[in-house]
Amino acid sequence: MTAPSQSAATPLTTGKLKRPPKLKGGLPLIGHTIAFVKDTTGLLQRTYDECGRVGRFKLFGKDMILFTGPEAHEALFRQPDEVLSPNAAYKMMVPVFGEGVAYGAEPARMAEQMHTLYPALRNNRMRTYTEIVARETLDVIRDWGDEGVIEAGAFFGMLTNYTSSSCLLGKEFRNEMSEEFSKVYYDLERGIVAWGYIHPYLPIPAFRRRDRARARLGEMVSEIVEKRKRSGYRGEDFLQTLIDAKYSDGSKLSDHEITGMLVAAMFAGHHTSSVTTAWTLIELLRNPRFLEEVRGEIHARYADDTEYSFQSLRDLEKTEGAVKEALRIHPPLFILLRAALEDCEILGYRVKKGNWVAVSPMVAHRDEEVFENALEYDPDRYGPGREEDKRPFAYISFGGGRHKCMGNAFAILQIKTIIAVLLNRYDFELVGDSIETDFQGLVLGPKPPIRIRYRRRGA
Ligand code: HEM
Repeated sequence: MTAPSQSAATPLTTGKLKRPPKLKGGLPLIGHTIAFVKDTTGLLQRTYDECGRVGRFKLFGKDMILFTGPEAHEALFRQPDEVLSPNAAYKMMVPVFGEGVAYGAEPARMAEQMHTLYPALRNNRMRTYTEIVARETLDVIRDWGDEGVIEAGAFFGMLTNYTSSSCLLGKEFRNEMSEEFSKVYYDLERGIVAWGYIHPYLPIPAFRRRDRARARLGEMVSEIVEKRKRSGYRGEDFLQTLIDAKYSDGSKLSDHEITGMLVAAMFAGHHTSSVTTAWTLIELLRNPRFLEEVRGEIHARYADDTEYSFQSLRDLEKTEGAVKEALRIHPPLFILLRAALEDCEILGYRVKKGNWVAVSPMVAHRDEEVFENALEYDPDRYGPGREEDKRPFAYISFGGGRHKCMGNAFAILQIKTIIAVLLNRYDFELVGDSIETDFQGLVLGPKPPIRIRYRRRGA
């Protein structure tokens, strides 16, 4: 990785800086808030279409500046947290993760907490996760029979819930507490509503349920930590990594911090992986040429349907291209935010203290100057001779810079495993009309119902 580019991103010093161009329209005081709430992605795209690589609109009384294009992304992602802060931008998540954890901690503390996850992402652990994901997938399709129809949103939501809870939380949650966990997780998710931008602790029922759920989850984690300590059992999961972890001063994470980090990993990884698995299958079914290539690769590798090993999955290039391309066209996290804590300069534009700044993977990935025929699903764009994802900060489904997704390798491996197991056993076909994106919520996915017919291969 190159060193931070001083010319691209520096705290404000002197000189004449340009004011980011303003998006037309908007109402006095509230600006574009209504358009943003009604059609967030539409407003972001319009900002780019009308203003270009830098555009500004008013949101909840503050200026939001959208930066688009690899140079702009780099400039933004390379700013220190003390200048452009994710913590201040995502403070609505603090009650969910817990005070003092992740976005609720000081930047240096948060960085240390994130570091504690690294041992859980090493190759030896990936081997275990691959086996778990393959086993869970084989388990849920065990009773499918020769033919049937699934609703893909619900199906992949359930499957990735099993795989994520097995790999992240461990077997106790997966096997003994999965019903109660589903309930508290649901209440936590339902606690992420737009009111949180105004104040994350308003006395509303959704926040009260969220806080009760967070407290209960803390108790559940503490019980398991205690049990593991007493029995000497060691899991091959994120929970164990966090139990073992130490800060640089030698102190251990508290149960509150362990709970918060587990919740953060679940929130970061569950829906994002679920919708991406659904989009990968949908896009392959819509694009028979690529489906044939991916199926061919999988059938050749797993002819005997026995071992979905880490090594064998890692080498499935066509399948990986299919996943990456689904992620490019349908990035689940369509807006990445920072709040300016100080005045600064990005690419010659003035960002003022109190502004919000954003990049949008969705808008960025539709940029024809960066991706050839950007709206087309074309996994070949990552192949030899093209490698469109190699341009730094062009492909940003996983963000970039110091806050780049930590779980990207795990996510891709998990999705590849699920797709490999499914396509190795069954043929699929979309049922019904076109599938649109569901623009409700923080994570964009395909709009249910998504009906997919399956038929056992050779049946
Ligand atoms: C397809 C699946 C996934 C997508 C599209 C995705 C996307 C992202 C993006 C865009 C960011 C950067 C956010 C920002 O800069 O504001 C991020 C951060 C993060 N992701 Fe993921 N993610 C995925 C799966 C996962 C999984 C499976 C895990 C954990 C097991 C995970 C853990 C994290 C963590 C811990 C961060 C915060 C890193 C930091 O702030 O230092 N993600 N992810």
